Amino acid sequence: MQLKDRIAIVTGAGQGLGAAISRAYAREGAKVAVIDLGLEAAERTAAEIRAAGGEAMAVACDVADRAQVEAMAARVNEAWGRIDILVNNAGITRTAMLHKMTPEQWQQVLAVHLTGAFNCLQAVVGGMIERQFGRILYVTSTAGVLGTIGQINYSAAKAGILGMTKSTAKELARYNITANAIAPGAATPMTETIRTDDRFKEKYLDRIPMGRWAEPDEVAPVFVFFASDAASYVTGQILAADGGMTIY
Ligand SMILES: NC(=O)c1ccc[n+]([C@@H]2O[C@H](COP(=O)([O-])OP(=O)(O)OC[C@H]3O[C@@H](n4cnc5c(N)ncnc54)[C@H](O)[C@@H]3O)[C@@H](O)[C@H]2O)c1
Repeated sequence: MQLKDRIAIVTGAGQGLGAAISRAYAREGAKVAVIDLGLEAAERTAAEIRAAGGEAMAVACDVADRAQVEAMAARVNEAWGRIDILVNNAGITRTAMLHKMTPEQWQQVLAVHLTGAFNCLQAVVGGMIERQFGRILYVTSTAGVLGTIGQINYSAAKAGILGMTKSTAKELARYNITANAIAPGAATPMTETIRTDDRFKEKYLDRIPMGRWAEPDEVAPVFVFFASDAASYVTGQILAADGGMTIY
C-alpha cells in the first residue's frame, strides 16, 4: 500500500475526478476526508469507500469560504490528528465568450480555483511544517496552458494554479513538503457538453492523439504517485494525463 496510514483531504470529491482520487487513496491505505459543497454528495463517495473496506469521512465545505475551510481542517485534525496530503481538486466552469462574460462569472471561477486552493493550503500548511512532511497536489488543465475559447476565467485560473504550484514547491521544499500539479483530461460531468454536443465532440477528440477521453479512475493513479513515497524527490512539476493533447 503506497499511502498506508496517511491522512488526506480531497476537495470537490463528491463526484468526478475527486471521487476517483478519494477511492484510489483509500485503496492505497489512506484515511480520506471527502470534501464537497453538499454533505449528501460527499457522503456518497465516503460511503462507497467504507463499503470497500476503506476509511473516509464526509465534510461539507465551500472551499471559497475561508471560515468553512478552517472549520473543515479543524474537524479532520480533531478526528485523525493531522493532515499529510491535500488535493486541491474542487472546480467549476462558468462558460461565456469573453465579451459577454459577467464580472460574477469571472469572480466565481477565480474564487473556487484560486482562492479555494489558497484557503485550503493555508489551513493545512502549519501542521505540515511542524511535522516536516506534506504533499500538496493541485489540479490544472490544458486550458491553463493552451487557453480555451469561452473560458477566459477558467484558463486564467488554471494558469494561476501553475504559478501557485511552483511557488508552493519552492517555499516549502525545505520542510520536506512537495507540491505538484496534474493536468487531467477525464470524462466527468464537467466535460459533458464538449463530449456530447455535436458542435464540439469531433473537433475536441481530433486534438487528443489517443482519440478518446480518460476515465477518472485511470487518471487517479497519477495523484497516488505524487502523494506517495515514490515521489519524495519530485516537486514543482506539472504532469499532463491528457492522452497527449498538450504534446507540442
Ligand atoms: N474533467 C476534465 O477533463 C478536467 C480537465 C482538466 C481539469 N479538470 C479539473 O479537475 C477538477 C475536477 O473536475 P471534474 O471534471 O471532476 O469536475 P466535476 O464537476 O465532475 O466535479 C467537481 C466537484 O467539485 C465540487 N465543487 C465545486 N465548487 C466547490 C466549492 N466551492 N467547494 C467545494 N467543492 C466544490 C462540485 O460540487 C463537484 O462535486 C477540477 O479542478 C477541474 O477544473 C478536469
